[in-house]
Amino acid sequence: MSQRAKTEGHGEASLETKDRSGPEIVRPQLDGAFPEHIAIIMDGNGRWAQEKGKRRIFGHREGIDSVRETTTTCARMGVKSLTLYAFSVENWKRPRPEVRYLMRLLRLFLVGERKTLMDNDVRLRGIGRLDDLPEPALDELRSTEKLTSGNNGMLLRLALSYGSRAELADAVRDVAYDVKAGRLDPASIDEETLRSYLYDPTTPDPDLLIRTAGEMRLSNFLLWQVSYSELYVSEVCWPEFREQELVRAIEAYAARVRKYGALPDKPAAAQANGAVKG
Ligand code: FPP
Repeated sequence: MSQRAKTEGHGEASLETKDRSGPEIVRPQLDGAFPEHIAIIMDGNGRWAQEKGKRRIFGHREGIDSVRETTTTCARMGVKSLTLYAFSVENWKRPRPEVRYLMRLLRLFLVGERKTLMDNDVRLRGIGRLDDLPEPALDELRSTEKLTSGNNGMLLRLALSYGSRAELADAVRDVAYDVKAGRLDPASIDEETLRSYLYDPTTPDPDLLIRTAGEMRLSNFLLWQVSYSELYVSEVCWPEFREQELVRAIEAYAARVRKYGALPDKPAAAQANGAVKG
C-alpha cells in the first residue's frame, strides 16, 4: 500500500478483506429494454463553473461528485458496464495548469474512491493511451485496477488520454506488425479481427451514449463502438448530472426501438422481452 493511500484514508489492505456480495440491485420500472452498457461524454464542467463566476477547475472538482453518484447508481441498477470519457487525447492541448489539475484530480479520485468501488463491487479499467499519463496517476490507476479486479459487479471504464482515431491508428499499426511477422493473414481480416485489436475488445458496445451540456457531438469518443448505440443529449452540465437525469436517459432508451439497419415490427416493450434481437 502506498504512503499516499494510507494518508488519504482508503488504504488497500483494509479494502481487500471486504464482503464481496455487492449492492442490492434495484432498477427503475421501464416499458422497454434496460441498457447493459452506458457510455457518457461528461461535458460542461468549465461552463458550469464560469456561470457561477468560478474558475473552470471548480467545475472539474464538482464533477467528481457526479462521477461517484453515476457510478454507484449504475452499479445499484445492475448496469454491466459504464464508460466515462474522463480525458481525451485532445485535452492535452488545454492550458498546462488545467491539465495538471485534471491529472491531480484523477489521482485523488483513484485513491479516494477505492472504498466506494469496493463497497459497490465495481471493477475499474482504464482505456486509452495510458502510457501518456503522468507516472503517479498511472501507478494509482494500476493499483485501483488490481485492487478491484476480483469484484464481480459493474465494470467502470475510464477513458484516459483516449481518442477514437488514436485507438484505430494503434489497432491498424498492430495489425500491420502482425501481418508483417506472418501472424495474421491479410485475407482473413474482417470486422471482428479489427475489433480484437481495439483497447478493450471483450466489453460489448455501449447500448446508450449520453452526452451532457447540450452539445450534439461525438468528440472522437468510441466511434467504432457506438455505431449502433442510442444517443441521449442532456441539457444539464456534468457537475449537476444526478440520478434523476440518469434515469431520464435510461427511460428514453427504453422507449427506443433498436433496428440495427433492419426493420423490426415490434415496439420497444416487445424488444425488452427478447422478441426482437439485433
Ligand atoms: C469536459 O468539460 C470535461 C472534461 C474535459 C473532463 C472530465 C473530468 C471530470 C468529470 C472530472 C475528473 C474525472 C475523473 C474520473 C477523475 P469541459 O471542461 O470541456 O466543459 P466546457 O465544455 O464547459 O468547457
